[in-house]
Amino acid sequence: MSRDSLSVSAVAHPNIAFIKYWGNRDNRLRLPVNGSISMNLGALATKTRVTFSPSYPRDALTVNGMAMSDAAAERVSEVLDEIRRLSGRSDFADVVSETNFPLGVGIASSAAAFSALALAAAGAAGLELKEAGLSRLARLGSGSACRSVPGGFCEWKSGGSDEDSIAHSIAPADHWHLVDLIAIFSTAHKKVGSSAGHPSAATSPYQEARVLDAPRRIQVCREAILTRDFDRLAIVSEEDSTMMHCVMMTQRPALFYWEPGSLALMKAVPAWRAEGLAAFYTLDAGPNVHVICEAGSADEVEARIRAFPTVQDVIRSGAGGPAHVVSSGLILMD
Ligand code: DP6
Repeated sequence: MSRDSLSVSAVAHPNIAFIKYWGNRDNRLRLPVNGSISMNLGALATKTRVTFSPSYPRDALTVNGMAMSDAAAERVSEVLDEIRRLSGRSDFADVVSETNFPLGVGIASSAAAFSALALAAAGAAGLELKEAGLSRLARLGSGSACRSVPGGFCEWKSGGSDEDSIAHSIAPADHWHLVDLIAIFSTAHKKVGSSAGHPSAATSPYQEARVLDAPRRIQVCREAILTRDFDRLAIVSEEDSTMMHCVMMTQRPALFYWEPGSLALMKAVPAWRAEGLAAFYTLDAGPNVHVICEAGSADEVEARIRAFPTVQDVIRSGAGGPAHVVSSGLILMD
């Protein structure tokens, strides 16, 4: 017997948040307590192929050639379950994913992964979803993934419900030639990931103040991007990153992501800016420091970062476009 199965591949980029997402009002649906703004990273990509077939006994996930049998596969199955519910099909899926950057080190690998998964799986299941529906699906897998569905500079509005907590583009990738220079201090997989950290955010006494002030920071950040005001973006982004890490360090159990090398660079970057070099720092849930600069400063900033003895490597990326389907085709299953 021969059965047809549709296989669809999609590519998505990770993103770096200038205004961070930390803490949920609904952990299952990943409805955040505050809105956030990010830039997609065009040089970094995840490509994911999804195939549904009645002959598969279960969902299977392979990442960079390794079969995943743990929590990662379970999270993928949760998004696939929603796609099965929406499409009315019950087949299991084979998911094969490849990345061109290290995983679990403070580059939002889950953002690219779940954004690519949402597009590829929706396509393979025959769902015709618009950007908003795809952003929602990606968010169910990883909150920040909803910001990797649209292109360029994206804002995730916290929204009032599962349907409207989605991201949209506020400016395309070519609006502003910003460069992210990611200073890698460690490629070890982080011990506590974001998913385990979000539910405890409210145990920090600083979270309430951070969330209450978020609409102001969002507005400043959005305006700074739209007007290409580097200094304004620099100040609000550094402030927002440090506020989030203050919450992380004071929640229970406490999360300390900064390493001595991270802190040395965090102190150097504002001093470089005071000298006239357009650069600022921001850190996600890991020790690596994202140094954002204008394209014209990138070579000088990269050389200065590499001069730090504890920096193992620097990954460079400009702004990136939206997640997109790259191929689809019928596979004949025997
Ligand atoms: C620190 O989106 O990785 O990078 O929804 O549990 O997958 P999950 O969390 P995730 O959280 C990202 C947190 C952050 C800040 C940000 O990207 O906004």
